[in-house]
Amino acid sequence: MNAVVFETKRLSLRQMTPSDVPALLAVFGDAETMRYYPAAFDEARMRAWVDWNMRSYEARGYGLWAMILRATGEVIGDCGLASQQVGGIQEVEVGYHVRRDLWGQGLATEAAPGCLDYGFGIVGCHRLVSLINPLNLPSRRVAEKIGMKLQREVEWKNKPTCIYEIKTSATQNPKQPPP
Ligand SMILES: CC(C)(COP(=O)(O)OP(=O)(O)OC[C@H]1O[C@@H](n2cnc3c(N)ncnc32)[C@H](O)[C@@H]1OP(=O)(O)O)[C@@H](O)C(=O)NCCC(=O)NCCS
Repeated sequence: MNAVVFETKRLSLRQMTPSDVPALLAVFGDAETMRYYPAAFDEARMRAWVDWNMRSYEARGYGLWAMILRATGEVIGDCGLASQQVGGIQEVEVGYHVRRDLWGQGLATEAAPGCLDYGFGIVGCHRLVSLINPLNLPSRRVAEKIGMKLQREVEWKNKPTCIYEIKTSATQNPKQPPP
């Protein structure tokens, strides 16, 4: 089993692996959960998403991590960091997806601050963003609750997109990643 990246009261975040595809498909295969994406994922798209994250762990030391409910050990979503190009600028995005039957329990808000700590403290980012469809009010609310501010609205991947941002002091010394 892959090492834990960080833990919160109810959650554990670890690198995802191909064995997580069925559990993640219960999240990303749901049309309501994916209403702001082009389509719900099928199994092949889910495998490609896991693969994209695994390549990101290798290349960058971060990605979206599997979100595990500690009480049951189930994978119930993901939360983490993703490298994104926005208007020719390389950004690091905080992302989150939670299985629909567990929405509204504060789980995304509980997990996301650990991603900010990782992005600022381990990766050494000075700015993190969230790229959110303006109509996606729950996601906007999570961004606000973790201290992000709406910077501007842009066209991204042919859709109107809110860029939420949070910055850290440029003088912060990044910690060394664990061996
Ligand atoms: C966004 C998402 C991860 C939030 O997960 P969650 O664990 O339910 O989030 P939380 O419970 O921590 O917080 C949700 C907040 O949104 C609010 N909210 C929920 N539905 C809302 C609505 N229709 N309008 C306004 N606010 C809403 C909740 O009240 C809560 O805010 P509050 O604590 O101030 O009341 C979840 O809705 C999800 O998986 N959505 C689909 C995937 C997605 O869009 N991901 C983001 C891509 S940018």
